[in-house]
Amino acid sequence: MSTVARLLKEAELAVAEATSLDQLDVSRIKYLGRKGLLTTYLKQLGNIPIADRPQIGKEVNGAKSQVLAAIKARQSTLEADNVNARLVTDRIDVTLPGRGNGLGHLHPLSRALRRVTKILVRAGFEVRTGPDIEDEHYNFTALNMPENHPARNMHDTFYLKSLNRLLRTHTSPVQIHAMEQHGAPLKVIAPGRVYRCDSDLTHTPMFTQVEGLAVDHGVSFANLKSVIDEFVSEFFEREVKLRFRPSYFPFTEPSAEVDILSETGGWLEILGCGMVHPNVLKQGGVNPEQYSGYAFGMGIERLAMLRYQVDDLRSFFENDLRFLNQFA
Ligand code: PHE
Repeated sequence: MSTVARLLKEAELAVAEATSLDQLDVSRIKYLGRKGLLTTYLKQLGNIPIADRPQIGKEVNGAKSQVLAAIKARQSTLEADNVNARLVTDRIDVTLPGRGNGLGHLHPLSRALRRVTKILVRAGFEVRTGPDIEDEHYNFTALNMPENHPARNMHDTFYLKSLNRLLRTHTSPVQIHAMEQHGAPLKVIAPGRVYRCDSDLTHTPMFTQVEGLAVDHGVSFANLKSVIDEFVSEFFEREVKLRFRPSYFPFTEPSAEVDILSETGGWLEILGCGMVHPNVLKQGGVNPEQYSGYAFGMGIERLAMLRYQVDDLRSFFENDLRFLNQFA
């Protein structure tokens, strides 16, 4: 077999066996490159007799174009294989379900607050709000706590000294605002944030209250009791045993704290209430000779803890998604 025929066979075999475009290129360089075996063979033609040159030259050129054709054919096969392989690995299943659109939801406190508000609005109360930053008059004095009244100390007040203002310690100042603005008769609730500078397992420096105030002719403690009774069983969606425990607030007389009987058999305080003190009606511009009223103030965190079985108050303020997502 001639050298050219042998090189041709060898090259065709190498091309056929190439399994990647890189390997194929190595073979191309080996046989057809500038220093390739067939290329250099052609350059040596000068060493052979002139008579033989045309014949061998033709043979080499023929072999070169045959190898080139084989490379081209192999190249398109390998390229097609590559495309097919990628079609398999890069395939997207457009029928798969999406990853979800991550809809948000209400914070458990917002949920409890909305629930409380809804129930009381249905019972005839209108929603009123007041500022978080108050002064001593609305937070204390007008609520029958004159300067040096001992109850002021129990409120752990955050004072904004330079402004002569404070962060309200309860929503009761809205009682005064509401009476000043609307007079009597009146039936309002005031949801909002309140602040006290104590912080432990059962207290946070900010928490949420809903105040209630009803003023009209002949409003009685029995009216207060029935509103609270109905509110509580609607809120918890069960018959709840209540206990009105005599208590003291400067702005109500008589005053009571309301406990509910928990499912585990213990009494838990959920709100303070009472008949609006005549001094407070006067401060609101309402004549206590003509009108009487009841008021209540409840803690939303406590109600939410009971309803959603949360045992640590602080969970509401830590923004841990593992906790919050349970309320989705
Ligand atoms: N303001 C009282 C508190 O924060 C609650 C209360 C409101 C009590 C209205 C009686 C009447 O504790």
